[in-house]
Amino acid sequence: MTAQTSLNFKTIRSASPKSLAERDAILANPGFGKYFTDHMVSIDWSVEKGWYDAQVKPYGPLLLDPAASVLHYAQEIFEGLKAYRHADGSIWTFRPQANGLRMQRSAHRLALPELPVDTFVESLKQLVSVDAAWVPSAPDTSLYLRPFMIANESFLGVRSAQQAAYYVIASPVGAYFSKGVAPVSIWLSSDYTRAAKGGTGAAKCGGNYAASLLPQQEAYANDCPQVLFLDPIEGKYLEELGGMNVFLVKKDGTLLTPDLSGSILEGVTRASLIQLAKDRGHRVEERKISIDEWIDGFASGDIVEAFACGTAAVVAPIACLKGRNFVAGDPNAPAGKVTMSLRQELTDIQNGRLPDRHGWMVRLA
Ligand code: COI
Repeated sequence: MTAQTSLNFKTIRSASPKSLAERDAILANPGFGKYFTDHMVSIDWSVEKGWYDAQVKPYGPLLLDPAASVLHYAQEIFEGLKAYRHADGSIWTFRPQANGLRMQRSAHRLALPELPVDTFVESLKQLVSVDAAWVPSAPDTSLYLRPFMIANESFLGVRSAQQAAYYVIASPVGAYFSKGVAPVSIWLSSDYTRAAKGGTGAAKCGGNYAASLLPQQEAYANDCPQVLFLDPIEGKYLEELGGMNVFLVKKDGTLLTPDLSGSILEGVTRASLIQLAKDRGHRVEERKISIDEWIDGFASGDIVEAFACGTAAVVAPIACLKGRNFVAGDPNAPAGKVTMSLRQELTDIQNGRLPDRHGWMVRLA
């Protein structure tokens, strides 16, 4: 099979794909990130050869030397985007170039090689065209695409990657949170921060997520499916959640979200919601937001809605913020109107139900 990029993808079809009945059973109730399609993409890289050996091949375990750098020094980055089946059966994805560019920035920060953006997009097309039957069509379902890159050189010295591999796996998904799009409670971490200035907070690397897991346990113990981190210097300003960006909505319709301080992930969903909100005439302030501004705003009625956003969850209404010794908001509060209408507009564009006026959609198959 010939790719339109400088790399030719070779396709090796699985000899034991899931049966139609098995696949249908999975697609009927996919959950999030539990099941994977029959194939995956792999592309190798070395200092000497650059990117080479692009393949779509059967999904299966990786063979890694126990000395592979990723296992010791966590040289790993990833992306997340979704493939949507439109009413006419065609399959599309949302702003893949933005993810490809962000993966290049993450690669730069983690001293990994930068994959050309056209190869990134082509890798998605190659995988989805082989596993097209895995793209679900029920409302609020999609095929979650997970590109990632690891340093796989067998070497225990600490240095930038001399050998790496890029992969794409795909997982049919429904809602990220177990309760669907119902409002969630958020736990404020008092003991931990997510990322330091000058650190890797703006990169989408596994290490950032690993560091969120201990505070996330505390969140779960308090009935909160996500944890909120404050800035690492003053412990005062909102940064982001364990795996999502955060927005507040004021009574006058103004949207507030933390500015890209260097330690916050530049969410594609975040940027898209800012654009959609501005298109509607909302004022959007990207700036430092103190935790007191949120808590006091909920109490005074100046802040009327809050939501989390990311590719996986899309837009998740936040009912309340909890921390040691306080609850701000009402755990049973309904989803906010602005929150849900932005969610609707974004998902309508992604699913082809509204015109794509910003040219965000790219056809995959
Ligand atoms: C995404 O929203 O795609 C992410 O990468 C976050 C992760 C928690 C699933």
